[in-house]
Amino acid sequence: MGDAVPCVPCVPCVRIALVGFGNVGQALARLLLAKHGSFQFEVKVVGIATGSHGTVVNLEGLDLERCLTTLEGQGTSLPDAEAMLRHVEGHCDAVLEAMNAAADGQPALSILEQAFMMEPPAHAITASKAPVALAYQRLKAFALKRGRRFLFESSVMDGVPIFSLLRQLPGVKVKRFVGVLNSTTNLVLTRMRRENCSLWDAVAFAQQEGIAERDPSDDLDGKDAATKLAVLSAAIFGCQVNPAEIPADSIRNVTLEQVHDVAARGHTLKVVCEATLAEGHVETSVLLKELPWQHPLANLDGASAALTFETDVMGPITVTSTDPTTMDTAYGMLQDLQVAMLGDGCGGR
Ligand SMILES: NC(=O)c1ccc[n+]([C@@H]2O[C@H](COP(=O)([O-])OP(=O)(O)OC[C@H]3O[C@@H](n4cnc5c(N)ncnc54)[C@H](OP(=O)(O)O)[C@@H]3O)[C@@H](O)[C@H]2O)c1
Repeated sequence: MGDAVPCVPCVPCVRIALVGFGNVGQALARLLLAKHGSFQFEVKVVGIATGSHGTVVNLEGLDLERCLTTLEGQGTSLPDAEAMLRHVEGHCDAVLEAMNAAADGQPALSILEQAFMMEPPAHAITASKAPVALAYQRLKAFALKRGRRFLFESSVMDGVPIFSLLRQLPGVKVKRFVGVLNSTTNLVLTRMRRENCSLWDAVAFAQQEGIAERDPSDDLDGKDAATKLAVLSAAIFGCQVNPAEIPADSIRNVTLEQVHDVAARGHTLKVVCEATLAEGHVETSVLLKELPWQHPLANLDGASAALTFETDVMGPITVTSTDPTTMDTAYGMLQDLQVAMLGDGCGGR
């Protein structure tokens, strides 16, 4: 068994359970270790669940340093995430989910619902986009009914503050947003232009860099971007859009010749995500576009992402995420935890 982790006296102690302990879950553990004492609360991790690397619980707090090496022998071993959440019920303030959710949002969706069903309920925080895209309204209503928060800062743009920024602008209405949301396609198109290489060579590079998945179809065919657009539409406009129904261009057939022709016209190719609210209805698209170099998104190179909001009060507000890492994503989840436990003072979205 790992050593119990005592909380620092006089600082509130927040007990969390981590579901998913891969790239993001482990980055979160490293961040908690590195930033120990930097927040207005202490965090005690009472449970960690994985798919095939074990699931452990210690209500006194797991030793994260040791858990980063192996989960074996670090606490009471349980068969799966559902059993872990049942075990920590009554001893867990928030469930942080960072597992690989399928296109139907499962099993992440069930885990988030289980967090609200606990007695007392826990806050539910996710890094996964599919459950938010598909069930935002249901999860939000469930959270409200149970007096808890459902937060998902890391599901879009890797945890760079978008939703928390908008919560800080009470009364401001977003009318339209436009952005580049998929890192893989942006890296591939940038690399084709800069390195004069084919699309598939650029995809191979993105895979080597750990940006593209082994099967890059969801990125190349606009599905990842459409799902992120659906998350944003649901959270910002309150309009649940089925990602499968968002018109989405694939970049599979982009040739090097096309990239050079576009450059010769003084333009660059970008996969542009757009959503506009008109009379309670939202128009969404993920389109491969030629942008002139003076366009704010044109110079966004590599694995970066950016989003510009047009509002009824201020001029356009742009948020950029430059070559994000899993630390950005982990920080987004920690920021959500802060909002869940201490509030953001603004209520809203
Ligand atoms: N990586 C990023 O930079 C990034 C950025 C933004 C958002 N996200 C999102 O964050 C989530 C996690 O990404 P990741 O890169 O950390 O994925 P990952 O490295 O593949 O890790 C996934 C984790 O989930 C666990 N898992 C799978 N099925 C499970 C189950 N049924 N019960 C409990 N745990 C289960 C896996 O365990 P096993 O390994 O044992 O199967 C693993 O620990 C994804 O939804 C992703 O889209 C990731």
